[in-house]
Amino acid sequence: AERSVQVKLVLLGEAAVGKSSVVLRFVSNEFQANKEPTIGAAFLTQKCRLEDRVLRYEIWDTAGQERFHSLAPMYYRNAQAAVVVYDVTKASSLEKAKTWVKELQRQANPNIVIALAGNKVDLVQSSTAPAAAATSESEDEADDATATPGEAPASGESDSLRQVPREEAEAYAQEAGLLFFETSAKTGEGIVELFTEIAKKIPID
Ligand code: GTP
Ligand code: MG
Repeated sequence: AERSVQVKLVLLGEAAVGKSSVVLRFVSNEFQANKEPTIGAAFLTQKCRLEDRVLRYEIWDTAGQERFHSLAPMYYRNAQAAVVVYDVTKASSLEKAKTWVKELQRQANPNIVIALAGNKVDLVQSSTAPAAAATSESEDEADDATATPGEAPASGESDSLRQVPREEAEAYAQEAGLLFFETSAKTGEGIVELFTEIAKKIPID
């Protein structure tokens, strides 16, 4: 018979980084452009199917606003997993994430599985890069005084909004012993992967 275990998971991170949106994508495969701030915390559940077992996540989605900080221990106490979220377009949110990781490593269950998620990665990706590059090159023949070298988007990614380089966050995560993902609650990128990789790290008891 299939094994099914309950796994208590908590989300932490600065206000507006997208914690509730990540959960909404994972649980309902939906996105809301104007999601209201969480008050206190929200509770949701979702199953996660691995090859050899099914986990049932019991998810505590905490409020990031500073006035709710003191409630957090109630939600991460006894948690087997934590997702600490930052926003790749906001450097200060990674600093806040690091303080949450320290707090978890000092005060949560010593075996807790922690993942760091750099959310809103859709904002730093340009999906139309190849076409845009081709268009801008066709302007070569015109003697156009307004064409500025280096203005065309580089292929793959536009870094105009990115404030946290992937390599920097990844290096920190490795050093601190965390799983690491860049995610987008908007497009769904990295979301199922995030929860699946956490599930694989939860010991079978
Ligand atoms: P608190 O509950 O106040 O702690 O905020 P939160 O971390 O739960 O953030 P929330 O999910 O409410 O998202 C804040 C805003 O960012 C909302 O307007 C979301 O639509 C938007 N947002 C969340 N995730 C993404 C994403 O991956 N990409 C983009 N472009 N916007 C996002
Ligand atoms: Mg929220």
